[in-house]
Amino acid sequence: MAIRRRPPLAAALAAALAVVSIVSAEVYFEERFGDGWENRWVKSDWKKDENTAGDWNYTSGKWTGDPEDKGIQTAEDYRFYAISAEFPEFSNKDKTLVLQFSVKHEQKLDCGGGYIKLLSGEIDQKKFGGDTPYRIMFGPDICGYTTKKVHAIFSRDGKNHLIKKEVPCETDQLTHVYTFIVRSDATYSILVDNKEKQTGSLYSDWDILPPKQIKDPDAKKPEDWDDKEYIPDPDDKKPEGYDDIPKEIPDPDAKKPEDWDEEEDGEWTSPTIPNPEYKGPWKQKKIKNPNYKGKWKAPMIDNPDFKDDPYIYAFANLRYIGIELWQVKSGTLFDNILVCDNPEYAKKFAEETWGKNKDAEKAAFDEAEKSKQEEEAKDEDSDLDGEDEEDAEDDADSKSDSDAEEEKETPHDEL
Ligand SMILES: *[C@@H]1O[C@H](CO)[C@@H](O)[C@H](O)[C@H]1NC(C)=O
Repeated sequence: MAIRRRPPLAAALAAALAVVSIVSAEVYFEERFGDGWENRWVKSDWKKDENTAGDWNYTSGKWTGDPEDKGIQTAEDYRFYAISAEFPEFSNKDKTLVLQFSVKHEQKLDCGGGYIKLLSGEIDQKKFGGDTPYRIMFGPDICGYTTKKVHAIFSRDGKNHLIKKEVPCETDQLTHVYTFIVRSDATYSILVDNKEKQTGSLYSDWDILPPKQIKDPDAKKPEDWDDKEYIPDPDDKKPEGYDDIPKEIPDPDAKKPEDWDEEEDGEWTSPTIPNPEYKGPWKQKKIKNPNYKGKWKAPMIDNPDFKDDPYIYAFANLRYIGIELWQVKSGTLFDNILVCDNPEYAKKFAEETWGKNKDAEKAAFDEAEKSKQEEEAKDEDSDLDGEDEEDAEDDADSKSDSDAEEEKETPHDEL
């Protein structure tokens, strides 16, 4: 984050405001990727011997609201990425846990993730990779047209528990802030750009524990339970003679042709037409069943397999934050990572980083798109002069299409 000089009066005013807006928070980890970030982060050697370990660019990206506000961006295509940082160990027992970061997919991500992980215990950061056990994995995941969601995974006793609710993520090429709040009453909220997208209970929205209540497996629908919503109307009777109405009748307008010779042509019969009186087979009207009791449902009972764990939300000795990804197309930029205990603090942090820059970033992006289109238009003009650039571009397009195809078959997150 850039520090701007202000005139003295404005500075004094800002200081006064800052006092008002101070929120007390325990900040376990805060990374704005300013100077010295490389001393705080450890690049893993994972995948290095296979030459598929990707490196990071330290940059604010191709479009930005503040060129001084840099983050780390995946730099090479078809690479694995693994990087982590350590912070003083803590437990979120009896506390609120907030995990927040911003991510920008400048490459127009076809398929890939932008999530981060919280890890506990003792880890060899030089070996951090896809198989390193984590506690929480959180962030957006995009693949094709079908996967556009925010992952929120708790890993306990070697099992990964995915959130059961859909949480949509952002899919454009701009910076967005993802926030995961886990409270000590076992409730949670997921925010995107400081707006709540999902909230609920860890008990019901993950299958970390078996459900508290289940349908009584011994309950049976009572024999006299009437679950027919509609019944035939006993007052509706078939009119007399209804079945005698013919489907077709002789055409009353038809006339025997004048030159009809009964001896030669046989007896003349009128052609038939559909009978307007005919209404199809008779159907009895239906009425609401006065004895309808609704659909039968088994009553819920306490689940004998449920054993409460009041610390379902808690992790002992959280100690590292890590980014571990596989990317077909690089260009994902992470910034402003925060682990703390106060959602208000996180909200302000997001406002003064992403919030402050987002409009300028959007303007810079629109500008970049505009010049790209102008470049393309120029290329097309020169194609008319007999150059082969369009072909080259077609090749590039079909290449990225097949990239997306290929990626679909590769598990892009090792959950
Ligand atoms: C990373 O930086 C290198 C060197 O400046 C550049 O060639 C490459 O395109 C960058 N990667 C991305 C994804 O922007």
